[in-house]
Amino acid sequence: MDKKVTVVGAGNVGATVAQRLCEKALCDVVLVDIIEGVPQGKALDLTEAAPVEKHDAHIIGTNSYEDTKDSDIVVITAGVPRKPGMSRDDLLSINRKIISSVTEQVVKYSPNAILIVVSNPLDAMCHVAHDVSGFPRNRIIGMAGVLDSARFRSFISMELDVSVDNIHAFVLGGHGDSMVPLPRYSTVAGIPITELIPQERLDALVARTRDGGAEIVNFLKTGSAFYAPASSVAEMTESILKDRKKILPCAVYLAGEYGISNLFIGVPAKLGKNGMEKVIEIKLTSEEDAALKKSAAAVQELVDAMKNLA
Ligand code: NAI
Ligand code: 2OP
Repeated sequence: MDKKVTVVGAGNVGATVAQRLCEKALCDVVLVDIIEGVPQGKALDLTEAAPVEKHDAHIIGTNSYEDTKDSDIVVITAGVPRKPGMSRDDLLSINRKIISSVTEQVVKYSPNAILIVVSNPLDAMCHVAHDVSGFPRNRIIGMAGVLDSARFRSFISMELDVSVDNIHAFVLGGHGDSMVPLPRYSTVAGIPITELIPQERLDALVARTRDGGAEIVNFLKTGSAFYAPASSVAEMTESILKDRKKILPCAVYLAGEYGISNLFIGVPAKLGKNGMEKVIEIKLTSEEDAALKKSAAAVQELVDAMKNLA
């Protein structure tokens, strides 16, 4: 295939991203991990599924970044997931070191790549990738909003018993407890959900969306969600590789948009062949704006906390 995507971290999210990308025949995939044998074994298994799935994507598994040379996109899923009782923020110290060393290796071999960061705490890890790579803001994008919005869409679909196809939803802000689901901009067949769902039920769906990650962790007990996260990465990757220019909620570095500067946070953005091509500014009510600012303050706190870590 003429496009090459590297996925760093061959764990639950990384391996499922690799599966989604090759089964959509979007690109060749290089799966990297520090554990010897795991990326090789998963890549071979995916390769052996190709004749049945009927795609011609090449997948290799490796422990060496040399194999990642000249990737168009690098998806970073390396790190530690949370366990029950942990928040995403508890991963700050350990994942910061991992993302820092991974980014160094990645940019050495693919200086023109677009980075999609997945590891948590997401918005803070985007800052690490940004600082270490020195890449311009259009080439560093965090995945969280597509996932959080997909959860909100699923819950709206269950509530109204309508096809997920009819549902659009936006969740902005940081990927944490202060994320900002926006019912006013969420629609079913173009109709705002505020006209279809009573306030008290809407509040419950918003709360379930905010706790969506923890809900899965509490079921799984040994790790966190990976199917919906991988689908979300695949949608972003496809929009970039095919230059589809989809508007998707992503963590991007704001430079004054929404009155926020020098911070990665989730907002609607246009994704095309140049990565993050435009931040879309939507009008917020004073309440929505205050919620976004509160979420930004929570992300800023984590970014500041990293400055004091060894
Ligand atoms: P996992 O534990 O299944 O996989 C992580 C993989 O990273 C492991 O195979 C591990 O060996 C590898 N790894 C660790 N250090 C590495 C290094 N220096 N270089 C290369 N590989 C390394 O975890 P899972 O479930 O895949 O989650 C990965 C990360 O993604 C976690 O931080 C998790 O919190 C985050 N996540 C974020 C989401 C989001 O919406 N942004 C959604 C789901 C997960
Ligand atoms: C999630 O929301 C763990 O951040 C991950 O599922």
